[in-house]
Amino acid sequence: MNTKKYPKTMIILHWLTVALVIIEIVIGKNLEHLDYTPENFNAFRAHAFIGMFILLITLFRMSYKRRHLNEIPQIDYYSEGHKKLVNGIHFLMYILLIIIPLLGFYIIYKTGGLAYDLGGPFPSVKPDESLVEIHETLVWTLVVLILAHVGGVMMYTMKKGENLLKRMCMLA
Ligand code: HEM
Ligand code: HEM
Repeated sequence: MNTKKYPKTMIILHWLTVALVIIEIVIGKNLEHLDYTPENFNAFRAHAFIGMFILLITLFRMSYKRRHLNEIPQIDYYSEGHKKLVNGIHFLMYILLIIIPLLGFYIIYKTGGLAYDLGGPFPSVKPDESLVEIHETLVWTLVVLILAHVGGVMMYTMKKGENLLKRMCMLA
């Protein structure tokens, strides 16, 4: 079937992910300046909760896509290389949206933060600096991929004269 638009569920999940990733980066940058104390723990909790939600909707989105492959609109790729690049960027974005929250969860888990939420004492161990640095590097890798993705969408629209955004929009 040659559809012209993404299924509604994919559209909602795409834009929900965009909004949540922006909020998550803002909260994450804010955490950098907060001490790991019981008073500040709600900010860490909010970051963890939103991040885990991003993970869940990404897993759901991937499985939904697999089950509705024939409803995904096709792109008129410039070349075989362009096809590989677009699919590679999509794949890497999905992978990072899974690995980043999992690593974040592991960082909090390692401090004993999860045990604290289950009634244990507040952790005396701080988030591991080197793991936080990896978490941060992965986030900026995701940001670079997102910029390439947006650039690609805009370039395709200019070159082919087809507004790709309409395929990812329920109203247009
Ligand atoms: C897609 C999801 C996520 C994004 C985009 C994200 C983004 C960020 C960013 C931008 C930072 C600041 C890094 C820095 O500059 O040092 C950060 C820090 C952090 N994130 Fe995430 N994060 C995500 C998911 C999670 C999850 C699920 C958890 C925990 C369950 C988590 C735990 C942490 C922790 C512990 C820090 C370090 C805070 C500190 O500096 O002490 N993150 N995150
Ligand atoms: C957090 C930021 C973003 C992420 C993680 C993301 C991720 C993705 C992924 C994985 C796909 C492929 C869907 C699939 O077939 O599986 C996609 C498609 C798309 N994205 Fe994004 N995106 C982001 C931001 C944006 C922004 C800001 C725009 C606006 C220009 C945009 C426009 C589109 C369009 C138009 C498509 C459909 C392309 C097509 O027709 O094949 N995305 N996005």
